[in-house]
Amino acid sequence: MATNENRGRNNPLRRDLPPAMVPQPCCVVLLGVTGDLAQRKLVPALYDLATSGFLPAGFTILGAARRDFSDQQLRELMKAAVFEHARIQPVQPEGWEDFAKSLFYQRVRFDEPGDYVALGCRLKSLAAERMTGGNRLYYLSTAPEHFAMIAGQLRGAGLAGGANEQPWTRLVIEKPFGRDTASAAELNRALQAAFDESQVFRIDHYLGKETVQNILAMRFANAIFEPIWNRRYVDHVQITVAERVGMEGRRGQYYDTAGAARDMLQNHMMQVLSLVAMEPPVGMDARSIREEKVKVLRAIQPLAGPGATGASVRGQYGPGSFAGQTLRGYRQEEMVDPDSNSETYVAARLFIDTWRWSGVPFYLRTGKRLPKRLTEVAIQFRSPPMAMFAEIEQMPNAANQLVLRVQPDEGISLSFQAKVPGMRMRIRPVKMDFRYGSSFGGDTPEAYERLLLDAMLGDSTLFISADEVDYAWRLITPLLESWQESPPPPFPNYAAGTWGPAEADTLFTTPGTGWRKL
Ligand code: BG6
Repeated sequence: MATNENRGRNNPLRRDLPPAMVPQPCCVVLLGVTGDLAQRKLVPALYDLATSGFLPAGFTILGAARRDFSDQQLRELMKAAVFEHARIQPVQPEGWEDFAKSLFYQRVRFDEPGDYVALGCRLKSLAAERMTGGNRLYYLSTAPEHFAMIAGQLRGAGLAGGANEQPWTRLVIEKPFGRDTASAAELNRALQAAFDESQVFRIDHYLGKETVQNILAMRFANAIFEPIWNRRYVDHVQITVAERVGMEGRRGQYYDTAGAARDMLQNHMMQVLSLVAMEPPVGMDARSIREEKVKVLRAIQPLAGPGATGASVRGQYGPGSFAGQTLRGYRQEEMVDPDSNSETYVAARLFIDTWRWSGVPFYLRTGKRLPKRLTEVAIQFRSPPMAMFAEIEQMPNAANQLVLRVQPDEGISLSFQAKVPGMRMRIRPVKMDFRYGSSFGGDTPEAYERLLLDAMLGDSTLFISADEVDYAWRLITPLLESWQESPPPPFPNYAAGTWGPAEADTLFTTPGTGWRKL
């Protein structure tokens, strides 16, 4: 039977590609290894990388957390996690046994200097035993309040290395990166006191998604899109990150202190927006791309406060239903304050003050408990200068749309008007559709696979610089403050299983425009 992997390998579009790079031998130190992220995403991603042949001989994972665990206990915990969450299924018992040999555990209480000394000794002995050459990648998947302390403790124990040193030492930081401009700046200062900026890799897992990277390929590996990628031809842009999930498991505990603007808008959506709106970089290297992204973030007009031109709407879901299933309201979710005013939906209209985008509205929306899981970027082009076909005038959004589907069903489609066959000149919109799955075949790696591999290779292109974090917070913080200062909204204001608050429609002021019906 042709498996996805085989279809991928035999696909002519994949033939003659240069082999992927394999990193130098190294030890990945997963701090917070007993947490949810490590079990659901990180260790399964490392297993998938190992199984696909991307990891070097001697590759080692040293899990660290506060629990008093043994190597064997960690292996048992991760066995269940990998069998359930690995992308490459079914997990072969021999494959797992091989991988399990690279897994070790070290107890580290994050505020205990002695534990870091012990960590250093363990790293040394593992380096000798497994011939990792002493290269280390620390991955902080702990609660965010520990990030600064762990970085400082690693430096204090002489485990932080330095820029351009061999063996190399790098630090990967998970989100959330701060709660606002001031706390993010403080975290950046703490990290930079312990590590050189070139050693710090800030994760935004959206950048690891294939179709998000494809925004760059589509824009800059083709000549036909760039000439129309500007205010002369683009009417507006819509970015949607819709989620069906609510507050499953213990998620409400974190989410209720964050809300949609911190959880999704400040990071994932701003990253996607900056890739869509940036100028062509001078090269495809990390520095050039990050510089252009920062310029976009700097040029976004304020969403709140004096002189704000942007606008926003927030929402929170109440009880509802979907496909016959009754859904709780947000305030009834586990670990959520029953009087919570945290938003589970946010929509914004913003403007980017550059020659390319001046006056073009960018509409962004994201929410939990919407009817679908779907992430897309839709470029809505202007209407033709003259209405030669009467029918088009009556159709809202009749002009061309280019839609980049990030997930699911990754692909790109272009809609345009065509004549309906027949005796009369009748016009209907039709689509040209490119689908990743059917064109390239094979499975697409998970975002975390790509990002972990890049961090081991030392390529920071798909990671966030300190400046990007700073400018994204400078945009979102005044918005959060203005919400704090205004009276609490009439929450809940949308039913679970619907497309968010009706008020979000008011962000569109031009007749005939509105949110895409997905
Ligand atoms: C995370 C957010 O960063 O991204 C979650 O904290 C959200 O709230 C998730 O559900 C969405 O990621 P994905 O890859 O499922 O789109």
